[in-house]
Amino acid sequence: MLSETGVSPKPSLPRLTVDGLHKQFLLHGQGGLEIDVMRDLSLTLHAGECLVLAGRSGIGKSTLLKMLYGDYRIDQGWIRLHFDDGELDLETLPAYAWHGLRRDVIGYVSQFLRVVPRVAAVDVVMEPLLARGADENEARQRAETLLARLNLPERLWRLPPGTFSGGEQQRVNIARGFIGEHPLLLLDEPTASLDAANRDVVIALIHEAKARGTAMLGIFHDEDVRERVADRLLPLDGSLGSPAATSQSFRESLS
Ligand SMILES: Nc1ncnc2c1ncn2[C@@H]1O[C@H](COP(=O)(O)OP(=O)(O)OP(=O)(O)O)[C@@H](O)[C@H]1O
Ligand SMILES: [Mg+2]
Repeated sequence: MLSETGVSPKPSLPRLTVDGLHKQFLLHGQGGLEIDVMRDLSLTLHAGECLVLAGRSGIGKSTLLKMLYGDYRIDQGWIRLHFDDGELDLETLPAYAWHGLRRDVIGYVSQFLRVVPRVAAVDVVMEPLLARGADENEARQRAETLLARLNLPERLWRLPPGTFSGGEQQRVNIARGFIGEHPLLLLDEPTASLDAANRDVVIALIHEAKARGTAMLGIFHDEDVRERVADRLLPLDGSLGSPAATSQSFRESLS
């Protein structure tokens, strides 16, 4: 539950439940056009598992992650985090509490790196640790270790990533997302612009996170990656949120 300084960093099982989630976009610039993106979506995510969201482009996969991260408002339904000392309902979470939640509990590798001008790649990566008051040298060392693992050339570490290639930016984004070892991690196509060698590094990072008990909700278009990381698959389609969909195992869903 919320403490005075933020959010408890000690979640217990299960980490996350989503129940009856709806999402509708109202386009004011288009004469109030309403787009239904999500109807009655439910899921449960446990510690140490990776649940993969599947479905065609535009079905609402990234939208779900953005709702979980507080970027999009929850119109209807419940998103609940479970902690040792209680539960936290995200749809009623006050704005001030999101900062602590993102710092201590929910990590997010977005589809694209949101570049901060003039901030060096290594500083972008170590920032989540500094936000928690970590020692600067230690944080830098961990950031460099991750960037080296992800094969980002050392000459780029001190440069702002604004001019980096898509794959280089994505690796900075991945390092920033994994460095904090959050108990809940949202992954939006983290391997989309990576070559096979770097895809393997990301898969290894995901397996290491699982071993630490991290609960992950991910989007992976690459079938091979999906097969190697997914414990369960949640197909988003016309039957959004059906009990069968939420309990379907990855193997079952492929057959
Ligand atoms: N802020 C927004 N305002 C209006 N419509 C939006 C907004 N964000 C998303 N949408 C719409 O919601 C739908 C779902 O988008 P979303 O990005 O979640 O799809 P996706 O499943 O992640 O697709 P992809 O696989 O291509 O990344 C799309 O039709 C998109 O245009
Ligand atoms: Mg998307």
